[in-house]
Amino acid sequence: MSEIEQKVKEIERLASEQIGRADGLEKLNELRVSFLGKKGSLTQVLKAMKDVAPEDRPKVGKWVNDARAAIEARMEESKAALEEQLMAARLKAEAIDVTLPARKPSAGHRHPNSIALDEVERIFIGMGYEVIEGPEIEYDEYNFTKLNIPANHPAKDEQDTFYINNEILLRTQTSPVQARIMEQGKLPIRMISPGRVFRSDEVDATHSPSFHQVEGLVIDKGITFADLKGTLDVFAKELFGPETKTKFRPHHFPFTEPSAEMDVSCFKCGGKGCRFCKGSGWIEILGCGMVHPHVLEMCGLDPQEYGGFAFGVGLERIALLKYEIDDMRLLYENDVRFLRQFS
Ligand code: DAH
Repeated sequence: MSEIEQKVKEIERLASEQIGRADGLEKLNELRVSFLGKKGSLTQVLKAMKDVAPEDRPKVGKWVNDARAAIEARMEESKAALEEQLMAARLKAEAIDVTLPARKPSAGHRHPNSIALDEVERIFIGMGYEVIEGPEIEYDEYNFTKLNIPANHPAKDEQDTFYINNEILLRTQTSPVQARIMEQGKLPIRMISPGRVFRSDEVDATHSPSFHQVEGLVIDKGITFADLKGTLDVFAKELFGPETKTKFRPHHFPFTEPSAEMDVSCFKCGGKGCRFCKGSGWIEILGCGMVHPHVLEMCGLDPQEYGGFAFGVGLERIALLKYEIDDMRLLYENDVRFLRQFS
C-alpha cells in the first residue's frame, strides 16, 4: 500500500472515530471543516497531487473521493442520530400532562369601595343625575372660600389638610365640585361627584388621611327641603332595603342653610337597638342641606331665582356599613384574604 493510500485511510479512520464521539451538531460541523473543509486534512492530500506521478493521479483522486464520500455518509448518519436525540430530549422536557387539572386564570374583582360606589351611582343615575369628577388638587378658594368658609373660619381647622402652597391644597371634601359646577352656569343641575379627599388625620379604625366621598347637588327653580328629604329617603331605601326609615337631625355646615345630618334606621335590628347601632336603632350616614344663598351668589347664581340642595356621604362609611366591616384599615391594606370575600 502506498504511503498516500495509507494516509487517506488513516484520515478516514480518524474522521469516523471522531464523528462517532461527536456529542452535538456544532461539534459535527467543526469536524466537517477540519476534515473536508478548504484547509481540511483530506483536501491537503489533493493539494499534494503535484508531487504524484501523472499516471498515479487518477488512483489517488479516487481514494480521496471515496474517503470523502465515506466521511460524508458517516456524518449524515451521525447528524440524523443527534437530531433524533435532541428532539426526544425536547419532547421530554416540554411534555404536557393532559391529565393535570386546568389552572384557572385568576381574574381580579371589584374592591368593596368600588362596589359601593357603583351602587350609589346606579341609584342616582336612575333618578336622572349626572356623574361628574372634580380635581383632587384644588384651590383653597373652591375648597373653602366659595363654600362660605372664609380665611379665618374655625371650620377650616376641623378640616386641616395638606397644603401645596398658600392657595393650593389636596381637597378636604368633594364639596368644591359644587362651586365648580354652579360657576359653569348650566342649569338645572342634578349631579353627584364621587372622589378621593384628604385630611391630616391619624390612621385608626374610622379615620384615614385619604378616603372617598360622594357629593350631591341639585339646583333648579322651586327646589324645597321636601325634595331633599324625598330624594335621600329613596337613596337610603335603595341602598339598605325598602323597610329603611330615615331621620333628619339639625346640624351645621357653612355652605348649607338649613343643614341636617341624616340617620337611617339600623338595618341589622330594624331600629330596636343592637350592638351594631350602639343601642340607638339609628345609624348616621350623611350630611345635607339647602344650598346657602351666599354660596349661590358667590358662584354666580341669583338666590331669588334658583335654589337647591346638597349632600355629602362618605363612601367608606357605606362600604363598612353594607358589608359589616368594623375597621376601615381593612379597605386599604389590600390583603387578598380579606378582599377575596367580595368576589
Ligand atoms: N363636605 C362635608 C364634609 O366633608 C359633607 C357635606 C355636608 C357635604 C353637607 C354637603 C352637605 O354637600 O350639604 O363633612
